Order: sequence, then structure tokens, then C-alpha cells
Amino acid sequence: GRKFVVGGNWKMNGTKAQINEILGFLKAGPLNADTEVVIGVPAIYLDYVKSNAPANVEVAAQNAYKAEKGAFTGETSPLMLKDIGVNWVILGHSERRQIFGESDELIAEKVAFALSNGLKVIACIGETLDERDAGKTEEVVFRQTQAIANQIKDWSNVVLAYEPVWAIGTGKTATPQQAQEVHQSLRQWISKNISPEVANAVRIQYGGSVTGANAKELGSQADIDGFLVGGASLKPEFVSIVNARQ
Ligand code: 13P
Repeated sequence: GRKFVVGGNWKMNGTKAQINEILGFLKAGPLNADTEVVIGVPAIYLDYVKSNAPANVEVAAQNAYKAEKGAFTGETSPLMLKDIGVNWVILGHSERRQIFGESDELIAEKVAFALSNGLKVIACIGETLDERDAGKTEEVVFRQTQAIANQIKDWSNVVLAYEPVWAIGTGKTATPQQAQEVHQSLRQWISKNISPEVANAVRIQYGGSVTGANAKELGSQADIDGFLVGGASLKPEFVSIVNARQ
């Protein structure tokens, strides 16, 4: 079976005081030992959180560039993440795509570069409301996944996060059936276009208005292997989302 993996994407939130509260409820847990927990932390706090997070919680950056070092003002290198003991990075979040103009190709290059430097990657995909309304959900999700497949061969350190853009921060969660439908057809597409082995092993998280109240039913779907949680990852209810699948 695929190990359940729950990510908390803090986005551009947190002060040291707020972070200490979050670390407090993560330490108190208890967190299901069968679930992998990864928190996505703003770059400036990564070192602090890495030093203060409980051992059963892994730490992710929310972005990383596709070069080792050099004249890339404002960027973070995968080598810098490794240097401070951070082993995960979230790439291709819809906010990176939409607000910062990151293309499928750039994201795929970042995924490949991060993997080649020993990071594990949560790679985000998902359609906008217009794309869903136009019946293009699968086309978009497959295109975004194909871009990554063009750049990497080994998927063992990749988690896919399916995050329909219309469900992010809106309180409009995909129904468990809507989410399962996309996860299942994505897994079938991976089986056909990458390999049955990758399709069987790769974990696909759902993200978009996940809460303590809806996590259990979403998490019981056959092809949902975890969550990527935004707003609720800043609150104690994150613990119950981590423990949604017991
Ligand atoms: P919300 O859980 O706040 O909808 O955010 C989801 C998300 O974008 C996680 O990456």
C-alpha cells in the first residue's frame, strides 16, 4: 500500500510566535505514525523550523530554483535546502503558476533539478474553474503531469498534489467523488503513459479547502493518498487531518 502523506502548506504566513504555537500542537499531536507529515515553511523560517520541529514531522521549502548557485537574486537553491537539512520541496503550486507566471516546463525543470540534488518533491497540478467548466480538467492535469514526465524517469521521490484551483482557499472543497474521479483517471493516465509500476506506487494528495470535518471522507477514497493543506495547516485541526486515515 501507499503510505498516507499529509502536507501542510503554510504559504506566506507565520511569525516566530505563531510558528511556536504550530510546533506546539504538532509536538502535542499525537500524530498517526503510519502517516508521513511534511510542513511547507516560508524560506526565511526553514532553518528555525528544521531546528525546532519534532522528529516525526518533515520540513519542506515552498519553492526552489533549478540551479546550484549564482546570479539568481531572491532564489533558493536545492543545495542550500540540503545544507540546512531540509529534504523536501513543494513545486508548481498554483500560486506559483498563476501569480508568478511559472510555466509547466519551468516547474518540470525545477522538479528534475530538485530530485537530482536529493530532495523529495511535492509537485502540484490542477485545473482552474474556467478549465473545469470547459470540460478540460483531465486535459490540463495530464498536460501538467506530462511536462514533468518529460524531464524525470524516477518517480520514487515524487508526490503529486492534485489541487483544483477553484477549491483553494475558497471553502469549496471538491466532493470526495469529484476528487476520486480525477485521482483515478490520473493514475490510469500514468499507468498508460509512464508505467503501471509508477501508477501503483506514486502517491496523489488532494488539496483545496481540506478541513478536519471533510478529511475523513476524502481520505477514504481509493486513489487519495493524503492531503496538501493550506489554511487549516496553521491551526490545531491539522492534527485531526493528519489522523484522518487511522
Ligand atoms: P487551502 O487548504 O487553504 O484551500 O489551500 C490549499 C493549498 O493551496 C495547499 O497547497
